Amino acid sequence: MDLFFEIHKDIPREGPGDNDSTRQALSMLKDIPNNPTILDIGCGPGMQTIEIAKNLNGKITGIDINKSFLNRLKKAAKDKNLSDKVETKEMSMFSLEFEENTFDVIWSEGAIYIIGFEKGIKEWKKHIKTGGYLVVSELSWLREDRPKEIEDFWKSNYPSMKGIGDNIKVIEKSGYQSIGHFIIPEKGWWQDYYNPLIKRINELRKKYINNKEANDRMDSTEEEIELYKKYSEYYGYVFYIMKKI
Ligand SMILES: C[S@@+](CC[C@H](N)C(=O)[O-])C[C@H]1O[C@@H](n2cnc3c(N)ncnc32)[C@H](O)[C@@H]1O
Repeated sequence: MDLFFEIHKDIPREGPGDNDSTRQALSMLKDIPNNPTILDIGCGPGMQTIEIAKNLNGKITGIDINKSFLNRLKKAAKDKNLSDKVETKEMSMFSLEFEENTFDVIWSEGAIYIIGFEKGIKEWKKHIKTGGYLVVSELSWLREDRPKEIEDFWKSNYPSMKGIGDNIKVIEKSGYQSIGHFIIPEKGWWQDYYNPLIKRINELRKKYINNKEANDRMDSTEEEIELYKKYSEYYGYVFYIMKKI
């Protein structure tokens, strides 16, 4: 079995986040229609897709390029009697196959980094109705006085990572009004993401005891987790809520 799939096959989320933060961001959308049309880009297994479907009347489409994540979302929607509100589509965020001005809300938790923050908010905009919203969470620097160890780690793993102020500047020069932002709490990193990952890695270490490639890969995930433990005050996942003007 592919190691990535083995590690991730039933981890609740594929990136930091939590349902309280999803609801907090939803509460910042003030004037959306009663039955909004929503797109969730890079939905993964869809914890946030389900939370949005539970809290809004409209229809939500989750797109991802990973079929097994989409199948998990489909099953979760069925189990929670939300199949009529949740649709899944295998589609890339690089080439959205939707008409212009289709969505009241585009949502993307922990996935816009794949296309790039600036490119994503610019390219996805045409699919949002004027006055509609884009909500994304993005890894962001929280402080300027960063220790070299963590600065170097993210410089090589995510060189275009910015501070909150710089991301808001990008939002405002890209044809949006910045409605607000907030930092997800640390529990959003541990509860449904890092803790289940640590547990899974501990199990797989035994299975792959003599497999260098598998161990290297697990080492790098553990390194990322250790660095978060040490430096969580310097960076975090930040929700950015913006309105197309
Ligand atoms: C870090 S995960 C976040 C998943 C989910 N939003 C969450 O918070 O749990 C990023 C997701 O983007 C998906 N992805 C990667 N490349 C993509 C692409 N080109 N188009 C759409 N989704 C993509 C991955 O399969 C993965 O599910």
